[in-house]
Amino acid sequence: MTQKVFVLGATGNVGRPLVRQMVENSDCDAARHPNPTQIDGLAASPINGRIYCEDGIRPRVALDFSERRMPGLRYDRLTDLLRPSWKETTYIDVTNAKEEALEFHMRVIKDGHSIVAANKLPLTICTFEEFNKLTNDYRRYRFSCSVMAGAGAIPFLRDCQDLNDPIIKIQGCLSGTLTYIPNQMENGMKFSDIVREARGRYTEPHPADDLDGGDVRRKSLILARTGGLDVRKEDMRVTPFIPQEYLGERDIEKFLPSLKPLDPVFEEQTREMAKQGKVLRYITTITNDPVVGRPQIVAGPEFVDKTSPFGALEGTKNMIIIWTRDHSEGYPVGPVYGAGNERTASNIRRDLLGNISGRKARAEKPPAANG
Ligand SMILES: NC(=O)c1ccc[n+]([C@@H]2O[C@H](COP(=O)([O-])OP(=O)(O)OC[C@H]3O[C@@H](n4cnc5c(N)ncnc54)[C@H](OP(=O)(O)O)[C@@H]3O)[C@@H](O)[C@H]2O)c1
Repeated sequence: MTQKVFVLGATGNVGRPLVRQMVENSDCDAARHPNPTQIDGLAASPINGRIYCEDGIRPRVALDFSERRMPGLRYDRLTDLLRPSWKETTYIDVTNAKEEALEFHMRVIKDGHSIVAANKLPLTICTFEEFNKLTNDYRRYRFSCSVMAGAGAIPFLRDCQDLNDPIIKIQGCLSGTLTYIPNQMENGMKFSDIVREARGRYTEPHPADDLDGGDVRRKSLILARTGGLDVRKEDMRVTPFIPQEYLGERDIEKFLPSLKPLDPVFEEQTREMAKQGKVLRYITTITNDPVVGRPQIVAGPEFVDKTSPFGALEGTKNMIIIWTRDHSEGYPVGPVYGAGNERTASNIRRDLLGNISGRKARAEKPPAANG
């Protein structure tokens, strides 16, 4: 079966490798793939436009658009990209659009299309009821890549729902950046130097957008909701990695030096806690305690034993452990390396596989791996 796709955000950090991977791995080549992908449309932001073709866009043209070598036609809103007759088309959302993306996702589901999303925003700004409406049909709404770049937490939590296996607790390190920073401090580097070095490589373009814990809050909310937990705003306590007063500066050239006063504080803390065998990690705990009565999310920096599962995480690795009635000893997901554009793109292609009915194995074997 041919899988038709429309990539929203095709010119972004994830969108570009996604289009390139589809072409390089001959996903679109019907002569070589039993379930070929047909790229029906590609879009950037409204001002940079979109292209589409009912018979599929040629790979060379798709690459040119995603690499911004070719302009698109402007459009007004994401919902303008929906075509009622394209029921078979799966929309891929790798934008960072917010309200308009939520409106788009709701329309996609209402109109009978499918979606694969890495964009976390629609699933976190919506209500719990809207979340359930969106994600009710597992095949038509796939969002594994919104948390840990598709490492398997979302499918496991979805399965728990169907198995009537209630979530007791979810705990984890959900930010590669916020594992990398304390790891480097353990290696003797200064906090402000690590942030400078990691900026744009492991962090968001502005590192404050990682250090404020907002991304972890969004991932935690998606995990909780996928596990069937309706966490209210007042039951989410997210403490930033550094004090709030350091997070307001949006001019990056002023922001980076402004972190220097924190260097001796972290240095002292790291040294003292190391004597007790402890290391700093940014930990999320989602609880569904019947005694408390309501599910809660607590996230923030914590000192944990260096030998514990989270303390032992190296580099940019992420990990979560899910405790359920049937997995009372805890079900680990990871450790896996934090997202990254290539890995996210690759796992979006993996998510797309779940949407193919009558999927056939590819006769051609993958090439030998290098190294
Ligand atoms: N990077 C990762 O490792 C990773 C992992 C998991 C999830 N994600 C999520 O994946 C999404 C994309 O990340 P990214 O790093 O690729 O972002 P990005 O580089 O900023 O790219 C965003 C893309 O969306 C388009 N866009 C922006 N605003 C839009 C709007 N209002 N309507 C339609 N399209 C719009 C942009 O078009 P223009 O080129 O015209 O601006 C661009 O193609 C984000 O939601 C991110 O949270 C990323």
